[in-house]
Amino acid sequence: MVNQIKENFNNFMNDNYRKGIILAGGKGTRLRPITFSVCKQLLPLYNKPAIYYPLTTLMLSGIREFLIIVNPGDLNSFKSLLGNGEHLGITISYKIQKKPDGIAQAFTIGEEFIGESCVALILGDNFFYGNSLPDILVKSSKEKEGATIFASEVIDPERYGVVDFDKDFKVRSIIEKPKDPKTNFAITGLYFYDNKVVEYSKLLKPSKRGELEITDLNMIYLKNKELDVTLFGRAIIWHDTGTFDSLFETASLVKSIENKQRSRIGCPEEIAWRMGWINNDELMSSIKKYKGNEYGKYLKDLIYQENMF
Ligand code: DAU
Repeated sequence: MVNQIKENFNNFMNDNYRKGIILAGGKGTRLRPITFSVCKQLLPLYNKPAIYYPLTTLMLSGIREFLIIVNPGDLNSFKSLLGNGEHLGITISYKIQKKPDGIAQAFTIGEEFIGESCVALILGDNFFYGNSLPDILVKSSKEKEGATIFASEVIDPERYGVVDFDKDFKVRSIIEKPKDPKTNFAITGLYFYDNKVVEYSKLLKPSKRGELEITDLNMIYLKNKELDVTLFGRAIIWHDTGTFDSLFETASLVKSIENKQRSRIGCPEEIAWRMGWINNDELMSSIKKYKGNEYGKYLKDLIYQENMF
């Protein structure tokens, strides 16, 4: 899967001007008491910190320049986990969100980082997995105009932004946490925007719950006929890991997939290496951190297996 994405990606490498923002703030109230001292994006999802999964999702789309937006008290923890990204052949910078005033604030906080580029936003508590995902990510990342967002069928749509279609299956509206959802299609926490997102985000006013809503931003794109909503089929798994059950279920899913297959999910060193952003020596120097540990053995085996075939 990753080799195929590397090939796709190399074809548009020179053309890749999209940057990535990972939003990793918020209160994590639904996960208290776990989140009293650790933010949810740093909680373990089986064998990796939760943020590894959204980070690798954006890496698979070819993005190499990242901004991670965090709560003031969490900055040092994120920096000690990911640093400036050099060991992954990417750049990571950080900005603080003083208080959780809404997801769409990412674009004013990130205005300087975004500059003239297109940008992808991913929520730090979202998990995506599927064979066809890399192709979809690369394709969406190549779009230079408008916005591309994704919807996935769920049994509890009232927890999310929900998309409504007309009889021709054209998107009519998106409603944030509707009491009476018209469909079961939830908008996932992965968004690809053109550079107009900065300008549009400045038009937003706080919602009734006092937040700058990502759904209101998407509605601006929809009204301007600049929004594409891609429906994920059954082959793509999406979890928002912001509740006890979803956190547990996602961790179990990773465990069961990894234990059945030889490959791991959401391993940033592996993706960086497969993308050609780090070489064998650079991977080996990351491996030193994992002496006598399964994660390090997995990374070492990648090089070993490559030399065998
Ligand atoms: O997960 C997908 C859903 O995410 C979408 O369907 C909804 O349209 C969208 O509003 C959002 O809903 P949530 O209720 O899940 O948002 P939550 O408040 O949990 O925040 C999502 C992530 O963003 C979480 O990792 C915390 C972070 N966050 C959130 C806010 C409001 C911030 O870093 N700063 C913020 O100000």
